[in-house]
Amino acid sequence: MTGAVTLITGGASGIGAATARRFHRAGGRVVIADRDTAAGEAVAAEVGGLFVPTDVGEPADNTRTVTATLEAFGRLDNVVLNAAVPGRCGLHDFTVERYRYTLRTNLDGVVYGLHACLPPLRRQGHGSIAVMASIAGLTGSPDLFYAAGKHALIGLTRSAAPALAADGIRINALCPGLVDTPVLAPYRQALRNRGLHLAHPDAVAAAVETVLAGPGTGQVWAVQAGQHATVVPAPEVPLMAD
Ligand SMILES: NC(=O)c1ccc[n+]([C@@H]2O[C@H](COP(=O)([O-])OP(=O)(O)OC[C@H]3O[C@@H](n4cnc5c(N)ncnc54)[C@H](O)[C@@H]3O)[C@@H](O)[C@H]2O)c1
Repeated sequence: MTGAVTLITGGASGIGAATARRFHRAGGRVVIADRDTAAGEAVAAEVGGLFVPTDVGEPADNTRTVTATLEAFGRLDNVVLNAAVPGRCGLHDFTVERYRYTLRTNLDGVVYGLHACLPPLRRQGHGSIAVMASIAGLTGSPDLFYAAGKHALIGLTRSAAPALAADGIRINALCPGLVDTPVLAPYRQALRNRGLHLAHPDAVAAAVETVLAGPGTGQVWAVQAGQHATVVPAPEVPLMAD
């Protein structure tokens, strides 16, 4: 990480903020892209990094953030596409507005972030991208549109990897289980009462560092409390042929 420039969406809180702190400790330079200006500026000040106010659901915001990164640091090495929100509805209380609220951040925001960072990574001939999915993207969840978005990120990662390999760009996804971040704070005690373990955000940040720095691409990593991150094999379903 020494000297490397990492752009982190959703870096103002939770896993994104823990990743910013970890990369700063390792000698890296960090750009926080978040819609929460107060928290984003605070984390950026703490790690001596740059904060760029960003709504990842707006394509132009993502482009502006990448441009600001290049202006500040002259390069971009790693991208952590991490910003997300919980779902706002299921099938029983569905509205188009609530459904789009979730997917515009959790799926569109990753697609726009990926699209925005590719030109400089291609010019450099290297770059590493971490997509923050979830265990909900491998299994399912009562929060079904959140789960649907996270499944899509895994498909996106596995599908984009071969296309980006020729440019020296790697892309991998991480699937944390429960993590002790502000988004889970209201449920923390209830989850613990059920005997469930919550990972520390820095444990996920450590996995992000490992995956960004490693040689693989198109991989999907499960990150569970108290366990080493492990690659989840893609199902093998060959197409029918004569
Ligand atoms: N906490 C968990 O248990 C858990 C488990 C699995 C996966 N994840 C994933 O990890 C990632 C981080 O989650 P967290 O728990 O740290 O959440 P968090 O709520 O602490 O942090 C999310 C950050 O994203 C930002 N954000 C939300 N919408 C945005 C937008 N449109 N544009 C820019 N920024 C936006 C928020 O302001 C916040 O700073 C998410 O992708 C989440 O789905 C979390």
